[in-house]
Amino acid sequence: MASVTSLSDSVQQRLAAALSAAVQDADSADPLLRRSDRADFQANGILALAKRSKANPRDLAAQVVARVESGDLLRDIEVSGPGFLNITLTDRAITENLAARYADETGRLGVPLAADPGITVVDYAQPNVAKEMHVGHLRSAVIGDALRAMLDFTGEKTIGRHHIGDWGTQFGMLIQYLMEHPGELAPASEVDGEQAMSNLNRVYKASRVVFDSDDEFKERARKRVVALQSGDKETLDLWQQFVDESKVYFYSVFEKLDMEIREDEIVGESAYNEGMPETARLLEEMGVAVRSEGALVVFFDEIRGKDDQPVPLIVQKADGGFGYAASDLTAIRNRVTDLHATSLLYVVDVRQSLHFKMVFETARRAGWLSDEVTAHNMGYGTVLGADGKPFKTREGETVRLEDLLDEAVQRAAEVVREKAQDLTEEEIQERAAQVGIGAVKYADLSTSPNRDYKFDLDQMVSLNGDTSVYLQYAYARIQSILRKAGDVRPAAHPELELADAERALGLHLDSFGSTVFEAAAEYAPHKLAAYLYQLASLYTSFYDKCPVLKAASQAQVENRLFLCDLTARTLHQGMALLGIRTPEKL
Ligand code: ARG
Repeated sequence: MASVTSLSDSVQQRLAAALSAAVQDADSADPLLRRSDRADFQANGILALAKRSKANPRDLAAQVVARVESGDLLRDIEVSGPGFLNITLTDRAITENLAARYADETGRLGVPLAADPGITVVDYAQPNVAKEMHVGHLRSAVIGDALRAMLDFTGEKTIGRHHIGDWGTQFGMLIQYLMEHPGELAPASEVDGEQAMSNLNRVYKASRVVFDSDDEFKERARKRVVALQSGDKETLDLWQQFVDESKVYFYSVFEKLDMEIREDEIVGESAYNEGMPETARLLEEMGVAVRSEGALVVFFDEIRGKDDQPVPLIVQKADGGFGYAASDLTAIRNRVTDLHATSLLYVVDVRQSLHFKMVFETARRAGWLSDEVTAHNMGYGTVLGADGKPFKTREGETVRLEDLLDEAVQRAAEVVREKAQDLTEEEIQERAAQVGIGAVKYADLSTSPNRDYKFDLDQMVSLNGDTSVYLQYAYARIQSILRKAGDVRPAAHPELELADAERALGLHLDSFGSTVFEAAAEYAPHKLAAYLYQLASLYTSFYDKCPVLKAASQAQVENRLFLCDLTARTLHQGMALLGIRTPEKL
């Protein structure tokens, strides 16, 4: 059995046992534990229980203290204020718990898997075909990838869906143009990401010019949309070229982002084409959607526009065409019925939250979403420039994602070079990519996702403060200590007394698993980021106060090396869940 019961769970179990011995119907009473300044933990919740059983809180707390089994676990337990208990653990219990985590060969640091995991479909990283990716797409990719890794770590089964924008009327114009100017797009197999995007941009701009100036072309483009929708072979082949060329570009950006995207999980809007007429028919038959001015729409009492008129969700337009809502509704049917999802998670800009609200409500009315399935749009905020205004280039254009990433890597190279002692130029470049991309991801993930965040490269690659570089340095510093230790191997010594800084670090290490579970359940990667930052800070104070290689005895050197190594492993695992590398040397 590789999984380890956390210290707080062990304490909780003992308290619960003592409580049920003290009060008859205490089954439902779970004393809540909090980390505390004065002791290791403070338990509350006894107050509420005392009220329920009409006992005096102080008496009840005293009874619990008298009945609790201390064993090797508790050093001290005392009543502090009405219904509160201060609890201090033994040094031995802390070290033994950490030793068990260290010994877990599965690499999970003793963290158990969820007893009853579900299936979450994560909709993230969804750029649009024939369009440049922008910073908004960056957030979806970074947050979605981290949430997914965190959920996987808890034992949840995740399925990715990249709902790329690969359908719609704009393809009429693009395809028609390509038909009239064959050879403007090179075969996807012959281009790299940059060439692909520049080809697509050129075709997009050129076709736009003709479309806007030539009414006959506009009409041919409109007919091309109809041909596309009716599945005309030649039209579909050209459409496929746009998709393939775009994928070359997407993959190049995701690679730069150090992110793995699976081909079979790129399931764009077009994939739901076949199901859309049925979606519409079912909604109309059930009376969930109604005809209004020729269109098929769904109304909601509480959703109204400025003039107080209800704003409907449009399932099918009056001309018979289907749009964004129809593809999302059809996708829900597929994800629940065929993929057996128990949770649907959408990592999409908060500006689309009304769309999802209406889509989810419609699906509930239709019975496609039941009480057993949760649906959530994790709407993230806007990326702002360092000046706090929406992120734009000096010329006022939206910033190209790759330029941004390249700049981050370049800045990181400066930081790495300055500190580099024994790194070759090649190593500096490799680290720069890990530090630069890590900085971009961490800055995004460490702010609460629904808030806007400032894209400030100076701050992001700073060595001081809440940045990924700070965490990466903490990790690399530990590796260098472990290398310096040479033949002396890290080993736990539960018989040793621990200094305060060691206890604080140890207790924090113990709470890694519960932090990941909480952060995953709440879709809150910033809680994991905050945990890791605190871990690095606690490590720094441990390192300042407790000499490692020059500790008093051989046993203490080994025990401190063991604390160092477990800290490093925890940092490594936690950063990996955020999609960030931890280089061995920096
Ligand atoms: N492609 C869309 C955009 O760039 C995002 C798609 C979000 N996912 C979804 N199922 N609607 O805005």
